[in-house]
Amino acid sequence: MKEIHLLKRMAQTLMSGQSRQTYDPWRPQWHLSPLVGLMNDPNGFIQHNGRYHLFYQWNPLACAHGAKCWGHWSSADLVHWRHEPVALLPVERYESHGCYSGSAVADNGVLTLIYTGNVKYDDGSRTAYQCLATENADGEFDKLGPVLTLPEGYTGHVRDPKVWRYQDCWYMVLGAQDATLQGKILLYRSDNLRQWQLLGEIAGSRLNGLGDFGYMWECPDLFPLDGWDVLICCPQGLAAEDERYLNTYQSGYFVGHLEGEQGRFTHQAFNELDHGFEFYAPQTTLSDDGRRLLFGWMGVPDQNEFQQPTIAHGWIHTMTCPRELTLRDGRLYQLPARELQRLRLREYQWQGTASYAPALPAGSAELSLDIQGEFQAHFADQMTLNWDGERLSLSRRHRLTGEPEHRYWRGTTLYHLQILCDRSSVEIFINHGQAVMSSRYFPDGDATIRFQGSGSILLRHWLLSPCVIE
Ligand code: FRU
Repeated sequence: MKEIHLLKRMAQTLMSGQSRQTYDPWRPQWHLSPLVGLMNDPNGFIQHNGRYHLFYQWNPLACAHGAKCWGHWSSADLVHWRHEPVALLPVERYESHGCYSGSAVADNGVLTLIYTGNVKYDDGSRTAYQCLATENADGEFDKLGPVLTLPEGYTGHVRDPKVWRYQDCWYMVLGAQDATLQGKILLYRSDNLRQWQLLGEIAGSRLNGLGDFGYMWECPDLFPLDGWDVLICCPQGLAAEDERYLNTYQSGYFVGHLEGEQGRFTHQAFNELDHGFEFYAPQTTLSDDGRRLLFGWMGVPDQNEFQQPTIAHGWIHTMTCPRELTLRDGRLYQLPARELQRLRLREYQWQGTASYAPALPAGSAELSLDIQGEFQAHFADQMTLNWDGERLSLSRRHRLTGEPEHRYWRGTTLYHLQILCDRSSVEIFINHGQAVMSSRYFPDGDATIRFQGSGSILLRHWLLSPCVIE
């Protein structure tokens, strides 16, 4: 009954959402975003039988967090996506307050979802169940119920299972908060996805030489890359520094070596995955052709989300573009997935001193810039990127206070930028993937990008063709 009730209300929000979308200057042309309601984390990213599947945390009923569903898109090429039946609705007792984030695997050829059933009680406490669901012949998902309850010694904040297969076993990492309110990542093993054995805490606050490093770690991902193991996680509760940890919550990675059997992960320092204003809860998968691909959420929880003006159009938030990961000198490099080049229309080239460059359309566009010297780019006069020879700063005005706010990347030199613009977002790839800045902004009309500075630039510009989700 609860399911029918939810479906009726979803139909209503989708129908009334149609009319609000007519004049929407901020709706992405080729990024994934919800038609109505609030979308957050990417979930269950996998290439299965040749097709990519991306699920997402979705509250279709309001532009607010709440009892999340799993929406579902699929694609043959990472560029053209289609809507699939909603995969999970939070209707069972063990997921009463949301089918929270998780991952997907192929279990003997069957697409299987592992997610967190989130349950909140009236007294403010909560619990979490790790649950399974398997795809049926209709492309819908049958729930198998919880396979894991809270481990001893942790609060109700244990969630976001990421599962992978290694040799003959399944492994899973979970984000967790221990009883002393320290954020941790737990490693489990299973033969059958049903019975799970805790191998240990592999990383966390006050672990492996880290000092205090947050009260909760969300959305872990762990994968081999170029001879190392990389742990991605999202620590909450890091103190902001002058140039780091400036978002409400962080998203970053540790490079190291996993000894699965021992439940041990020796790792290097934490690095942020993105230096922009909006990035969180990324998830990766391995493609059939051997690439490690990543989608992130271009949003951050509790960071002035509800000041975003798309709410007037009935939706909020977008995914990042799909990215390819590599490891170089102990650092993650990210580049837009090569498939995105298919969106490029006619190329325009220009060379000279930045100040003399023409303003260019940036509504749905890609730019590639070779840069030598001092350089600035202005996005619709709302956001500025400034390279002063030592530091790259991205600046905009705080939506609530109107005060300037900044994000930074520091490097020995800036020699290349690849910039993807899509209506209300920019993703800035620095020095062929060395760092990224992802941010939302809300230009009044058709956005243009303007340049300034004494540096010389060689620029290439493409308009990108729109690509709606079918
Ligand atoms: C991260 C997160 C996850 C949780 C989900 C709920 O943004 O808080 O930890 O599973 O969102 O939507």
